[in-house]
This record gives sequence, C-alpha cells and structure tokens, in this order.
Amino acid sequence: MPLPPYRTITPGSLPANEWYQFMVTSVAPRPIAFVSTISAAGEVNLSPYSFFNVFSASPPILIFSATTRARDNSPKDTLLNVREVAECVINIANYPLVEQLSLTSTEYPRGVNEFAKAGFTEVASDKVRPPRAAECPAAYECVIEQIVPLGNTGGAGNLVICRVVQAHFHETLLNDNGIGLNPHKLEAVARLGGDYYCRVGPQSLLEVPRPNRHQGIGFDQLPAHVRHSDLLTGNNLGRLANVEAAALPSAADVQAFHHEPLVAYTLSKYHGDPAEQRRQLMLLVKQYLEEGLVQEAWKVLLLADK
Ligand SMILES: Cc1cc2nc3c(=O)[nH]c(=O)nc-3n(C[C@H](O)[C@H](O)[C@H](O)COP(=O)(O)O)c2cc1C
Repeated sequence: MPLPPYRTITPGSLPANEWYQFMVTSVAPRPIAFVSTISAAGEVNLSPYSFFNVFSASPPILIFSATTRARDNSPKDTLLNVREVAECVINIANYPLVEQLSLTSTEYPRGVNEFAKAGFTEVASDKVRPPRAAECPAAYECVIEQIVPLGNTGGAGNLVICRVVQAHFHETLLNDNGIGLNPHKLEAVARLGGDYYCRVGPQSLLEVPRPNRHQGIGFDQLPAHVRHSDLLTGNNLGRLANVEAAALPSAADVQAFHHEPLVAYTLSKYHGDPAEQRRQLMLLVKQYLEEGLVQEAWKVLLLADK
C-alpha cells in the first residue's frame, strides 16, 4: 500500500497558535493531572493540566507543565502556588467528572477556590497541605522536586517535577486481585485537541499481548505473500509476527488442521481455483486473528503455504 504524504513543519515557521494545534491534536489523547495547590496565604486552587504523565515508578515521579498565558506571558495560579508552597495533589478524574473538571479551567481570579466553583469535596491530605478531591478515583500527594522553566515567551511551559509521597485509590475500582485499577470500571478520560476528550469504555478498550520476555519472529520472517497481502492489516501482521519461532504450530498440527470443518470446507469448495482458495484461506487467517486465535491463524497460514 502506498504510504501517505507528509506535511513537514519546522517549529517557528508557523504562527505559535497554529503550531500548538498540530502538537495538541497529534500528541493525543493525553492523561489529565487535576492539580490541587495552595498559596502561602492558604488559598486553595484546583485546575486541569494535560501536559502530564508518569516518568518514574521508583522513585515515584509525575510531571506536568503549566504554560504561561499566551496573551501576556503571565503565570497561572497553579504555578504561582507551587512556587510558594512546593506541594500539590495530582488527582485523576474520570468520565463522570469531566464536565466539572472542565469548569475548573475557568480563569477565575487568584484566590477563588475551584473545589467550590465546580462542586468537588475537599479532603485533607495526609502528608501535604493542599487537599485532594474526594470524587476523584485516584489522588497522588506530591512534593515538588523541581520547577524547570522551558522558555520565557508567552505559552512557554514550566515543567513541574513531583515526587509522590502518598496515594489514594477508590476501593471499588481496584482489580479483583486488589492491585491496580480496573480499566473496565475506571472510565478513564483523556484530552485531545480543541474541545475533544475521549472516554475509555467497552468500545475503546482493546488488549494487545505484550512481547514481554519472548521474542516474536518479526515481520521480516513472515512469508512475503503474507507480508504483502492486501487482506491482512498491519495489526494482523503484528499479531502473527509476535509469535516465537518455537511456538509456531508443528507440521503434525498443521496437517491435523486440514480436518477442521471451516478449513476442510474452504479447501474442498475452492479446490478447482487455487488463487481463490488461497484468498479464502487468507480471509480465514484474518478471521482467526480478529478472534484472538493466533495458533489457528498460523495453522491456516502454514497449510495455505503448501
Ligand atoms: C483538560 C484541560 C487540560 C489543560 N491542560 C493544560 C496544560 O497542560 N497546561 C496549561 O498550562 N494549561 C492547561 N489547561 C488550561 C488551564 O487549566 C487553565 O489555564 C486554567 O485556568 C489554569 O488555572 P490556574 O490559573 O488556576 O492554575 C488545560 C485545560 C483543560 C480543560
């Protein structure tokens, strides 16, 4: 298949707001840090930041970036607060909270408490001064390790490096073994460009088996006609290439699979038309792959190869 044409851009060659649009619409979806902070005077603030991620589990480090306001290069309240009191809570919101979360991004004057404005419940933290939001499924109490200014013009980021000192998770959302959150229950929410968010639900969740310690054979070891098949997608090929050489079906397994009803039917129905027979077998490979039956897919592939 022909590769799509590229738009190539050198940063600085576009107006800043257009460049920003390319970045936030392509680096997406982004998780959202829902950050509570406190000023030296004790004023509480709560605001969303999607320039955010986890950068280390041990030590436990989360990072977000508060840009200065593009219009006048002024710092946001969150940044002012963490400069005064080097602590924060990074709350994690989910889909049921997304409209309230969005409301907290309103540019209220400094000192206005967005917990009150957006209907969140303040709970005292164990180890830091800013409170956490009780409604949020996860909350990380953090001390600020470092604030790194990334530029000095309007819109420049300020990297806030946070070390987690305590964490809280809603019990009802834990996995059955009590470790980690269950993605089917969490209804995670993330930010894209513009006004777009996405919600993780049954339609958007998928499982991709990790290579972990095994070494899949790789694309280059797939038979050429498979690699260049116009029936199989890159995802189909990726799943086939993730199988270890030692785990490929044996010749005896492949032979026995001739009797599998779907295979036997396809072989006999298209007996007189080898090209169509191969196409139908490839469709069967695809069907097995999409049902997660990788061994079965490989058996059909190997018998089609004969
Ligand atoms: C979902 C979402 C994500 C946001 N992410 C960022 C971000 O990563 N960095 C940033 O500077 N502003 C971000 N904003 C905008 C700030 O939340 C907004 O400027 C807010 O008024 C800042 O509040 P504060 O001045 O109380 O800190 C985001 C807004 C929303 C709704």
